Order: sequence, then C-alpha cells, then structure tokens
Amino acid sequence: MLEAKRTISEKLARVVRQELGVDLPPEEIVLSAPRKEAFGDLATNIALSLSNKLRLSPKEIAEKIRQGLEKYTDLQDIVKNVEVAGAGFVNFRLNEAWVERKAGEFYDQERLGVPEPAKPLTVVIDFSSPNVAKPMHVGHIRSTIIGDALGRIYRFLGHKVITDNHLGDWGTQFGMLIVGYKRFLDKEALAKDPLGELEHIYQKVYNLAQQDEAVAEEARQEHAKLQSGHEQNLALWKEFMQWSKMEFDKIYQRLGVKFDHTLGESFYNPMLGDVVKELKEKGIARESEGAICIFFDEPELADAPFIIQRRDGAWLYSATDLATIKYRMEKFKPDLILYVVDIRQRLHFQQLFTAVRRWGYEVRLEHIGFGTILGEDRTPLKTREGGLVRLEDLLDEAEKRALSIVNEQNPDLSEAERQDIARAVGLGAVKYCDLSGARQSDYIFSFNRMMRLDGNTAPYLQYAYARIQSIFRKGEINIAKLRRGNGKFLLQEESERDLAKCLLRFPEAVLSAASEFAPHLVSAYLYELSTRYSRFYETCPVLTSSSGPSMDGLKESRLMLCDYVARVLKLGLNLLGIESIERM
Ligand code: ARG
Repeated sequence: MLEAKRTISEKLARVVRQELGVDLPPEEIVLSAPRKEAFGDLATNIALSLSNKLRLSPKEIAEKIRQGLEKYTDLQDIVKNVEVAGAGFVNFRLNEAWVERKAGEFYDQERLGVPEPAKPLTVVIDFSSPNVAKPMHVGHIRSTIIGDALGRIYRFLGHKVITDNHLGDWGTQFGMLIVGYKRFLDKEALAKDPLGELEHIYQKVYNLAQQDEAVAEEARQEHAKLQSGHEQNLALWKEFMQWSKMEFDKIYQRLGVKFDHTLGESFYNPMLGDVVKELKEKGIARESEGAICIFFDEPELADAPFIIQRRDGAWLYSATDLATIKYRMEKFKPDLILYVVDIRQRLHFQQLFTAVRRWGYEVRLEHIGFGTILGEDRTPLKTREGGLVRLEDLLDEAEKRALSIVNEQNPDLSEAERQDIARAVGLGAVKYCDLSGARQSDYIFSFNRMMRLDGNTAPYLQYAYARIQSIFRKGEINIAKLRRGNGKFLLQEESERDLAKCLLRFPEAVLSAASEFAPHLVSAYLYELSTRYSRFYETCPVLTSSSGPSMDGLKESRLMLCDYVARVLKLGLNLLGIESIERM
C-alpha cells in the first residue's frame, strides 16, 4: 500500500501544480483510509485544505483534481476509480488486479513487503532499568515490555539496535539499605527471599527516616560513604547487587528479554567528576548554594534547575544520565536514543535533553513515556495488602489462568504441551495488554479482560494463528510447497479482497509503530487483520473451495491467503515479543 500511496501522492502533486498552480511536495499529500469503507480504499482531503487559499469550494477543487488525474493512464493500473465525495474528499478505490499482484509479490518475500531503511540508524534503547535491591514490580514491566518491543521493531526494520539496561544500582536507596542491613536484617528471611527481605528492611528504614531526621542523616552518610568507595559499604553493595541480578535475570529469561549491555548507574561513577568539570568549564553548569546545577532560560524550565551534585557532594541521577550520554555518544555514536521510562519523569528528561543540546551533542533524544498500571479501583495497582505487586507473582497468576483455559479447550493434549501453551498464552496476555493501548495512557489491569478469546487480546491473536495451522493440518497441506508453487491470488469475494488489502498494510503498521514509538499500532493492526480473517473464513470455504471446474486455483489462493495471514500474525506477534503457538 505504501507504493500505491506514493504513486497517487506524486500524481496528485502534479495535478495540483498543473491544474491549480499550487506547489505541494508529494510527502505533504496524505492519503488515509476513508471514514467509511464503502467510500473506497484511500482518501485525501487536500481539496479541503486548499480551499481557503484558492478561494474555491472544496468540491470544485476536488472535481478539478479528479479530472486532472484522468490523464495519468499509469494510475489506472493501481486505482480503479476516483470519486469526489462528502465535503470535498477525493476517494480512490484500488484495482483488484493490482491488489492480487501486490499480494503475490509480498507473499513471496521474507519481509512480507516491509522495505529496508534508506539509511539504517544506530538506536540505543535504554529500558527496563529497575532499581537494584528492590524486587522488580509492575512499574518496571511496562518499560521492559515496551522497550523490548521497540527494540524488536527497529531491529526487524534493519536498524542497528543497542539495548542497555540502565540499572538503578547507585542511588540513595543504598544508604537506607545499609542502615537497615546493620540494624534489622533477618538472616533467615534473607536466605529464603533475598529481595523480599531487602525490600522489607528498606521500607523499615524509609518509614523511620520519615519521622526521625537522625536516621535520614545516617542513611545519607552511608550513601555518601559508598559513593566515595568505603570498603565495607562497597562489599555490602556488591552483595545486594548479586542477589538482585539473579532475580532480574530470572524474570528477563522468563519474559524472553535480552540486553546487549547492562551498564548501571554505578558504571558511570568514575566519570562523573570529569563530566561535571567539563560542564562547568563550558559554562553549562555552575555552583549555587553549594550545589552544582544547570539553569535554563527556556520558559518551561526556568523555575527548575537541574541539580547534578548535592551540597554534601553526593551525585544525583541527573549526573549519571549526563555521563551516560557522553559515554554512549563516544562508544556507540547513536543517531537516536530512546529512554523508555515512566511518563512522570518527564521533567527530568526535558531538563536532561535541554542540557545535552547546550552541551553540543548531535543526537535525537526521545523520552518514551508510559502511563501507570491501575487496579480495578483505578488507583495504581497494589496487592490486597496494599503493597507493590511483584512482577513474578503476576506472571504466575497469568500462567495459572491460561492453564485453566487450555485445559478446557484442549483436554486431549499432553500435560507438557498444555503447560507450554499456558506459558505462552499467559505471558502473551500480560505483554499484550501492555502493548495494545497508547503507551501514554494509564490502563486498568484485569486478568479477565486480557485472557478473553474474543477481543483485542494476545490469546485471540494466538488462537487465530493456531486455527490457521489446524486448517493446514486438517487439509494435510504442504506449506513449503504452497509457498514455492505458482499459485496466484484470486480475490473473488468482498471479504477476501478486504483481507488482502489489509495484508498489504502490514509494512505501514510496522513503520509507523517505529516512527511514532508506538507498538500499539502493530497490535491494533494485528487485531484488525484477525477480525478480517474471521470474516473471510466465515464467508469463503477454504479446504472445500476447489469443488467446481470454475474454481480452479481458488483453493490454492485461499490457502495462500491463510498462510499469508499466519505469517503476518507470527511476525507481528514476534515484534511484540509474543510467541505464537501451533495448537490451542
Ligand atoms: N531506575 C530508574 C527508575 O526506576 C529508571 C532509569 C531510566 N533510565 C535513565 N537513563 N534515566 O526510576
């Protein structure tokens, strides 16, 4: 569809210049889906947007455009008819023969029509980044899942992706933890559940420090001692690190998430001094009331100085992030750095990015913010006791629920197979509900909804994929042969034409998910594809479609359509980090 859009836009640009005397670059002529399917496949509103300038009614302009387009006979290869509709829209309907041919072309490609980038970018993705010595909780699941999906999407498109888990392994929590370790540690509890116990002692000290300034001060001092290399504190820190990494790795493995680098905040500690020196020398940072800060002239940041080093010498999150940029620029030379971090850190990233521009690095920086996961009561998700929900518990529960669905649907499968399916479905459901809405929005976490087999859920898509595989099994279809064969797409019914057109839009879905950093554009697309597939399947017999003599080749075409849908589903789910399953 990209190619069709490009050709139509080019012709439109020419017509607009010749007939109306307006110079518009083709890239600015947007073609989108008309409001109603009955209006055609593509529509443009340029007549409406030119109306003021030309002092003509949109309808008149649209009519001129329509007539002007008649000259271009090569357009007729792609477009069957051009119509003026509504207030002045120009609507296009694609030629069936073109759709059949394009579908055949894409079907033969491994990349299913997705073009290679003209210029591959080097993209660093900073994601997951949980805080050490705290159990990973649901807040970090969003970063992990969204970041992983973006990494997969960019990589598939052909960009060079470098993923980096910027662990919070140097922050003020260690001051609290060291105090807690010395005062309250329960060795037995630690052996059983290290991160649980650390969380427990952290909470205890945190609560104490709220009421008792002396405790808060003690924690600050322990933290400062650690940062300046105090031996005993450093040894404790290493211990905390080990436990955390073990726990994190378990979860990453379970989620199928990998990182190229895990360079936590501590990694940058030795570089902080030089970075701040440089920033001071360049006049970007300066001392204020004993602290080192960056002040901004930008109106929205004027009241918010970026504090890099506290008066007591402690380095802050901001200092590390500045050093991290310098390191990444020198080491990876990226064109783009994505920070997949809670939307509530917006100010921090605005300050950081503004400081970096002043520093002079040329790189595109994007804060990929996301909303909060809410419980059914619409407040941030908590356990029944009011604590943070642990990611592990949540995944366990999802798999358990998936297993009961699988047991019901597939009682004949072996225990091991059912377990395996349940794992893929449970994890898929959790991931998908994180990826199916615009990331900036909060969403309500509901096991019941994410497990539904009849909505915009992972199980629904996995089921659609499995159903296609079962058709192939039933018909004893040799897929490799089908793909190698000379079959052509024959789109006879409305529902199969719609399905094919939808398949042609896969490349755009992936490209716009990348350019807008919005994995939900892939999930929304896959959902639409599955619903169109259902409609096709209801109206077009597949295995029995070759019964009459006039039906030659139709069965093959329909099987190819099924296979095409399955491949798009499998690839699309993979881009979201979700497994497809052969039977369900
Ligand atoms: N550890 C931080 C947190 O949990 C997120 C770090 C994000 N990455 C960054 N470069 N600041 O809030």
